[in-house]
Amino acid sequence: MATQRETWRTHTGMMFAMIGTEVGLGNIWRFPYLCGKYGGGSFLVPYMVLLVGVAIFGMMCEWVIGRSTRREPMGAFQKIGFPFGRDIGAWGVIGPFFLYSYYIVITAWVLFFIVASAAGLYFGENTEDFFLGFLGSKWVFVAHAAAVAFTSLVLSFGVQKGIERACKVMIPSLFVLLIIVAVRSLTLPGAREGVEFYMRPRWAGIANAEAWLAALGQVFFTLSLGMGAMIIYGSYMRKSWGIPLNAFACSFGNTSASILAGFAIFPAAFALNLGGAVEGKEAVGLTFLVLPEVFGTMPAGRLFGGLFFLLLAFGALSSAISIQEPSIAWMKDELRWPRRKSALLTGVVLWLMGLPFVINGFVTHGAAGGSAGIGEKLALLIKMDKVINYLGLPLLALIAILAVGWVMKEKGFAELNRNARIKIGRWVKPWLRYVVPVLVLLVLVANLLEQFFGDTYKELVGAELPGFESVGITPLTVITIIVVCGIVWGGAIGGFLTVVGVERRKAREAQSRGADG
Ligand code: PHE
Repeated sequence: MATQRETWRTHTGMMFAMIGTEVGLGNIWRFPYLCGKYGGGSFLVPYMVLLVGVAIFGMMCEWVIGRSTRREPMGAFQKIGFPFGRDIGAWGVIGPFFLYSYYIVITAWVLFFIVASAAGLYFGENTEDFFLGFLGSKWVFVAHAAAVAFTSLVLSFGVQKGIERACKVMIPSLFVLLIIVAVRSLTLPGAREGVEFYMRPRWAGIANAEAWLAALGQVFFTLSLGMGAMIIYGSYMRKSWGIPLNAFACSFGNTSASILAGFAIFPAAFALNLGGAVEGKEAVGLTFLVLPEVFGTMPAGRLFGGLFFLLLAFGALSSAISIQEPSIAWMKDELRWPRRKSALLTGVVLWLMGLPFVINGFVTHGAAGGSAGIGEKLALLIKMDKVINYLGLPLLALIAILAVGWVMKEKGFAELNRNARIKIGRWVKPWLRYVVPVLVLLVLVANLLEQFFGDTYKELVGAELPGFESVGITPLTVITIIVVCGIVWGGAIGGFLTVVGVERRKAREAQSRGADG
């Protein structure tokens, strides 16, 4: 390879970029809506189990593949000798186009809602009518084009000047804003019920096989796996950085944002007696209908609403950047095109691919005399989200895990532990080879059983989702809060501080070596 491969400039910059791709609509839009749909705290159990048992390993494996080959997904799978490597890797280049096409549409709504909240446009109005009105207006086209233009522009600047620099500003701001909104939400009178709903697991919810399938899709989605993004981002990693510690820190850092988002949303929604609306709410409900209602009725709603959507925009844009990057990397690596040209071309293609989703929402509005419901207007988008999450992501993410476990073998394990301060033991081998596939298989089988023997299955495991009844904060709720927040925030902060510490020590050592020499 004649051209010099781009890399992240600094270790912490790399972590911000990684968390930048991870934290996005998945944390603030998708995670709370899945929690709402699958019984609040009940969803946390499959989510945490699959995060720790499967997804973190998926992330390490994608980094291993990316860093050891220094290629985009097609070249990477070929180089490690995976059967039909190029064809399989192609999904890591093509898949992101489909993900981006609808992801950026939701990002566009977010951009509009920053302005709408700050100006109080929906205050005192029915939020559903307001949202429908927006989908049928020209603004949705403007916001969509602006969002695509933004990510293409950042990407035309490259890895260090573009991605790393943008994320270093956006990600810390996102966390600060998220904490501010969560504190506001938790201090509203009546917030407790929301905490209880959000943090109390109930057996019936845990035994629901569909919740496990949703959690499986979600853990891959939230860690940006199965889309080539992490393979590419891994290929920009330096060999001197340890993979395991970074993977733990980034996964828990990402999850801490999801947990915070839940604390920002549920207490406020319940405080304003919107609990009923939270339960079983489909895709758009929570973020674009319930929350605006919360902002519209809470003190300083304009400020907090504006801040909330601003932070969501930061998260969504930094993720969208990483979804666009694989195709640009492919054009650079394989066609030797300059970055600018690839960024422009992908931008145009992605803009065109997003139009059907925008138009679906736009035309169904006027056609039926303005009476089309949200479900119809978003039918296309929700279908695409399901296909991508139930099929697209898990498939390639699993293949990456199997590739390291069965194809790269010793080479893969060596790359995983290369220069790592905290090394992973030999148990990782059977884990990647057998435990992960079995876990995933179990989720799929349970779902088939539930599909085909619905009632018998439900009777057997008692998985009928109960309605929400308020019983006050129970000991179980307290234990869940301590365990979940402890693991997630402890892991994130501990991991991050260790990385910073290691970097400092290395810098000192390098300095003293310099002084000696
Ligand atoms: N992880 C991102 C989010 O949660 C979405 C994403 C998926 C980004 C796959 C890149 C690849 O919003």
